[in-house]
Amino acid sequence: MANIVVLGLQWGDEGKGKIVDLLTPSFGVVARYQGGHNAGHTVCLNGRKVVLHLIPSGILHAGTLCVIGNGVVLQPRAFLDEVAELRASGTKIDGNLVISRTTHLIMPYHSLLERINEEMKGARKIGTTCRGIGPAYQDKAARCGIRAGDLLDLGILREKIGENVEEKNSLLGNLGEPLLDAEKIFEEYAGYAGSLKEYITDVPLLLDRKLKEGMSILFEGAQGALLDLDHGTYPYVTSSNSTAGGASTGLGVGPTRIGAVLGVTKAYTTRVGGGPFPTELFEEEGRRLLQRGNEYGATTGRPRRCGWFDALTVAHACRVNGAERMILTKPDVLDGLDEILVCDGYLYKGETLRHFPSESWVLEQVKPSYRAVRGWGEVRGMRDWDRLPQAFRDYVRLIEDLVEARVAVVSTGMERRETILLDQELEGLLDVGAVRAGMQS
Ligand code: GDP
Ligand code: IMO
Ligand code: MG
Repeated sequence: MANIVVLGLQWGDEGKGKIVDLLTPSFGVVARYQGGHNAGHTVCLNGRKVVLHLIPSGILHAGTLCVIGNGVVLQPRAFLDEVAELRASGTKIDGNLVISRTTHLIMPYHSLLERINEEMKGARKIGTTCRGIGPAYQDKAARCGIRAGDLLDLGILREKIGENVEEKNSLLGNLGEPLLDAEKIFEEYAGYAGSLKEYITDVPLLLDRKLKEGMSILFEGAQGALLDLDHGTYPYVTSSNSTAGGASTGLGVGPTRIGAVLGVTKAYTTRVGGGPFPTELFEEEGRRLLQRGNEYGATTGRPRRCGWFDALTVAHACRVNGAERMILTKPDVLDGLDEILVCDGYLYKGETLRHFPSESWVLEQVKPSYRAVRGWGEVRGMRDWDRLPQAFRDYVRLIEDLVEARVAVVSTGMERRETILLDQELEGLLDVGAVRAGMQS
């Protein structure tokens, strides 16, 4: 079977956690390639909610190897807490979870600097998760970052922390902020070193071996294409490449090994944090989606901004990812509405744009043009394509036509079993039988 990337086609929170967990039975390995504990991936197991932040969403399946790649930024305390929480609820973690030696670490000064930076931006703040993600990637690009492998030699670790703290202190001093204590940070991280050692390994080598043994890999994206550093709504983005190219650089697996990209999209749109959002709904209409969709951030608990499905953003996302197939989630949230709108263009300075513009300042000025679709009644919990209301199937076809990608899976609820797999779209990519078997559990 193919190695597949599963990623978000919008601004995150599309339901990737549910989908990755659902598809895991078809794969030997599930690997995260970017982001950090800014992500919140929810998996529901017979009413029990598990939210994964750093650990791949395949971890609930015994026997699946879960990998954190070099493209991820890892906060050791967050990682260890997540492991402890999973273990406490009965998940077995013993040799089935690894971290790349070249994964960059999030340090205490990263979240500190991020908070200062966000405050300085005032009204133009990004609305980050304040997890230190951006500053950790900044240090990686500045070539002063500290990596998981550095924990394996405490002498090197002390030296690198010392150099970094000296540099950050000169900045903090200029801002009149309290200074950092290098030795205290070293002691904290030397403590983590003892606990993390057993997870740290050479990931490109390990994955190459697994592929040679005939295993397939599911590459799990965090965030979404519109939050991608290059292809998203810059500067209102995260600091990594959440798009498919990141899977290759973020794990050390060449692009020739990637077979397909499955993009996850909601039947409407949400966004957390600042930045343009052309189809955003306000007041009563926005609140209705927020409440029906229970749209509160899985990481920060912030209410998500909600709006109609935007075919221009999703078409752009499919294009930059090479995604020919989509997974449609949460249509049940629109159940019972008389009319549903789909954005098919942007009005801008007297013209209609049919493609997503790359500048956020353009996007802030556009007015969406809509197609109205009649409501479909109920799809919640449905498991059979042929029994879906015709109006819903028409909606799916409209989205497919506007986005120029096929829907391969429809999710109609939070649980694994509340899913419709379209076999003809998945054949050759996945072991559909194994996925179906998992849906019974
Ligand atoms: P992720 O970050 O992409 O993994 O998504 P989140 O977990 O942050 O948010 C998606 C939310 O929607 C979670 O609470 C899921 O349990 C829930 N969810 C996923 N698929 C469906 C669906 O088809 N219907 C409904 N009603 N909820 C869903
Ligand atoms: P998952 O994987 C939704 C958003 C933040 C902010 C911007 C930058 O659960 O889909 P950062 O802390 O990354 O520097 O914040 O990105 N953001 C997310 N929004 N889902 C996520 O992850 C997100 N991760 C970051 O709200 O607007
Ligand atoms: Mg999320």
